[in-house]
Amino acid sequence: MTVEEMFRRYLEQRREMGESELVLDKLTVDEVLRIVGAQGKRAPARPAGTTAGGDWRQALRDADAEVMSPAVRIPRADVPSAPSAPSAPSAPPAPPAPPAPRMTTRLSALAPAGLVVGGAEAELFGGPIARASSLGAIAEMVRTCTRCPLYATAINPVPGEGSATAELMCIGEAPGATEDETGRPFVGQAGKLLTDILRAINLSREEVFIANVMKHRPPGNRNPTPDEITACSPYLLRQVELIRPKVILALGTFAAQTLLDTKVAIGKLRGAMHWYHGTPLIATYHPAALLRNPGWKKPTWEDVKLVRRILDSVAA
Ligand code: URA
Repeated sequence: MTVEEMFRRYLEQRREMGESELVLDKLTVDEVLRIVGAQGKRAPARPAGTTAGGDWRQALRDADAEVMSPAVRIPRADVPSAPSAPSAPSAPPAPPAPPAPRMTTRLSALAPAGLVVGGAEAELFGGPIARASSLGAIAEMVRTCTRCPLYATAINPVPGEGSATAELMCIGEAPGATEDETGRPFVGQAGKLLTDILRAINLSREEVFIANVMKHRPPGNRNPTPDEITACSPYLLRQVELIRPKVILALGTFAAQTLLDTKVAIGKLRGAMHWYHGTPLIATYHPAALLRNPGWKKPTWEDVKLVRRILDSVAA
């Protein structure tokens, strides 16, 4: 696939997500498509299992367009991926995801553009987790999950809790000791601080949905292994698809880097508007880190005010 083809796909997906302007310059998507000579052409089918990639800024430069520096420099901008290839041709499709939220303000005006992971489409062929029809069904699947070894050492599964129609999803790393004992996310010291942070932007815990990337506690709070992350991630993705929040708040390095599939430091990820499977994602410091580093409270406050602005900008 040529870089123009990759770039065209990227732009068309951004346009489908409701964006008409790119943050990188003063051109509209259609103007850029004309520049790369790709307006109106149909994309060839992508081979199963491949994802688009490539440097779209370079593609613009190659097309002689002026590229403005983004306010936040992030080394890699992922391109939204196509729905995954069928794993079982006879699998029944997942229930359709609700339509994308309506914008009252261009979200791109609120923060510099960040990383984009996944397309807005539901995972139609991803197996039983991708076809779970409710949050309760996911919780039940998590309860009996043996997809990785963590279930064997954990006391309780912690699938997440909150409103099924939440406008905000808060996503942390993994249950700690208190969460493991209670089966509830963010109920220890860090959880109390999260509750206060939410209250500061006029949200109660009951109004939002709080979850973790990992649904079982890694023993001794060790870092989850890549295999464990891969095994657990479909639960969170399906939760996001079912809830369709207006915005995701990724709490801490692990959640932000895992969801955005990047190694970029949290200090660089925060302050930008990323996209996770069609939903805006803001990254901020983990409440537990704030307890250790009060100096991070101010930037965290900026981040959650941005979350508030996004919530206020997207019509119900
Ligand atoms: N830290 C997390 O990341 N998640 C929890 O649920 C508790 C602490």
